[in-house]
Amino acid sequence: MSYLPISLNIEGKKIVIIGGGRVALQKVKNLIQFTNNITVISPDVKEELNSYSINVIIKEYNSDDIKDAFMVYACTDDTSVNNKISADADKLNILCNRTDEPDKSDFISSAITQDSKFRVSVNSTDRDKKSTIKLRNRIKGLLKRLEIYREKRANNRGKVFLVGFGPGNPDLMTIRANDLCHEADIIFYDDLLDCTSLDKYGAEKVYVGKRRGNHHKNQDEINEVLYQAAKQGKMVVRLKGGDPLIFGRGSEEKMYLEERGISAEIIPGITSAIAAAAYSGIPLTHRGVSSSVAFGTAHGKSSYKLLESDTSVYYMGAKNILDVAKKYLDSGYPEDYPVAIVHNASMPDQEVLKTNISELLQNKFEIKSPIISIFGNTVNYQNIVTENRCKSCNKC
Ligand SMILES: C[S@@+](CC[C@H](N)C(=O)[O-])C[C@H]1O[C@@H](n2cnc3c(N)ncnc32)[C@H](O)[C@@H]1O
Repeated sequence: MSYLPISLNIEGKKIVIIGGGRVALQKVKNLIQFTNNITVISPDVKEELNSYSINVIIKEYNSDDIKDAFMVYACTDDTSVNNKISADADKLNILCNRTDEPDKSDFISSAITQDSKFRVSVNSTDRDKKSTIKLRNRIKGLLKRLEIYREKRANNRGKVFLVGFGPGNPDLMTIRANDLCHEADIIFYDDLLDCTSLDKYGAEKVYVGKRRGNHHKNQDEINEVLYQAAKQGKMVVRLKGGDPLIFGRGSEEKMYLEERGISAEIIPGITSAIAAAAYSGIPLTHRGVSSSVAFGTAHGKSSYKLLESDTSVYYMGAKNILDVAKKYLDSGYPEDYPVAIVHNASMPDQEVLKTNISELLQNKFEIKSPIISIFGNTVNYQNIVTENRCKSCNKC
């Protein structure tokens, strides 16, 4: 059967429901939101039907009952009566819905959800009622969130949201980050590992990362473009890889904006160190092995230092990671002190190198940026590698 999803204007048009049981009651509950010109005909009806301002007629069905109807619902538990109703409706060119045999229906009912702006109806192609209701309920939640943001949006004008995108896999964005991107007028984004995922947002998108081409903006310029956009009354999203407050310069941007009277809110994201641990299966703490973890940078020879912690996680510095390993060796760590290097954590092409400081120093591995490097004994406690790290990519 081929059903065309359309929206019918039924205001003032007579809707006849034949049957007075649970199914008829459900139809009344759905239809009453759209019209009160509803007639229920049945020799006996559920008590609750009398509480609606509709016509309830206690009698057996006969063909005359539907002659001035716009739509008919055959909801009796007697197939021969339902057959008669649909045959009568056919003769009179009246749309008929059969709850007992949907295949013989001219139309089917959708699962509906609505807010003050949108009405969404959901049908499944294979009449899977449970999944249809599940999807409808998810959409209901989405509409609720969007409605809240629509209301808030007036207040969000001239404001900047410093939003964490997570480690690169769009499935790991938070719900709030996704909602704000949908609502934004303009999105300034960094070197996200999967920036194609921004295509779905209607906002103007401006790349302000440092990798693509030579014409990147420096931090002062980025601060200023954020400020200017907010000053024009725009709702601004500044989208950053990982978390804005971990090597993300989120605090600098917030201070710059607030000093100039622009409100800025930070929305956390999953930082790449946490994603690297989860998707390589390497714990950062483990009872009896490591009870502390520190985050640091391996960027710029002068700025990095050995971290004083059971587990040490280094961001950046793919070029310097051998120097870091050397520092460990020089500081008395054993040659087999474990190291893991996770490239493109959480992405379909993630790679995990599990080694130790002396092997690393033999310079036999190709180390490509971006990496998270984990130094510590928990590397030997690597367990399951999460299988479905990329459920949205369809590539693996
Ligand atoms: C400027 S820092 C930004 C960190 C970010 N704010 C965060 O919380 O993850 C960039 C560094 O983050 C790390 N990084 C970001 N995404 C990564 C990923 N998916 N896999 C491995 N490392 C990643 C790399 O060390 C990269 O050089």
